[in-house]
Amino acid sequence: MTAKTDNHKEIRVQAIKNGTVIDHLPASFGLLIIKLLGGIPARKIVTLGSNLKSRARGLKDLIKIEGRELTESEVNKIALLAPHATINIVRDYRVIKKIKPHLPEIIKGAVSCPNPRCITNHEIISTIFHTRIDKKIVTLSCHYCEKQFSQAEIVKYV
Ligand code: CTP
Ligand code: ZN
Repeated sequence: MTAKTDNHKEIRVQAIKNGTVIDHLPASFGLLIIKLLGGIPARKIVTLGSNLKSRARGLKDLIKIEGRELTESEVNKIALLAPHATINIVRDYRVIKKIKPHLPEIIKGAVSCPNPRCITNHEIISTIFHTRIDKKIVTLSCHYCEKQFSQAEIVKYV
């Protein structure tokens, strides 16, 4: 599945015909991003590359979803965990669009509230978080219990 390229510096997985490639994810975050997007879509081929050597520097994760183009709201959800990701839309083997995720003002349902006393942890209600970004730090506040959480805390509740 993986092979060294000519310069022996890069590891590549097979190209896809149609679908989405989520690239430049922080190393080891791939599984978490799949979970954030609601899991592996039924009957779709998904390839996860983890801790791959990045061309820029360091390591990265990468997800390929065949036969499925992510929607704008799915793309933007990714900003919560990986603001620097690149979402590539592939059609007929060519990247036709590169999208950068934008943190949405409201995040619904994707994350549970870390506050054990929050009503969303006791009744069947979707969570709603209001997002704020200040000096590159993402903070979420729960619409119901109004508590604020850092991005690092939220990662545990995806
Ligand atoms: N890709 C793929 N199948 C294709 C085309 C591209 O899986 N048919 C993958 C590439 O392997 C790469 C990503 O989609 O991981 C983006 O492709 P491309 O834009 O060609 O690569 P780069 O120029 O390296 O992208 P960037 O500048 O965003 O790093
Ligand atoms: Zn809450």
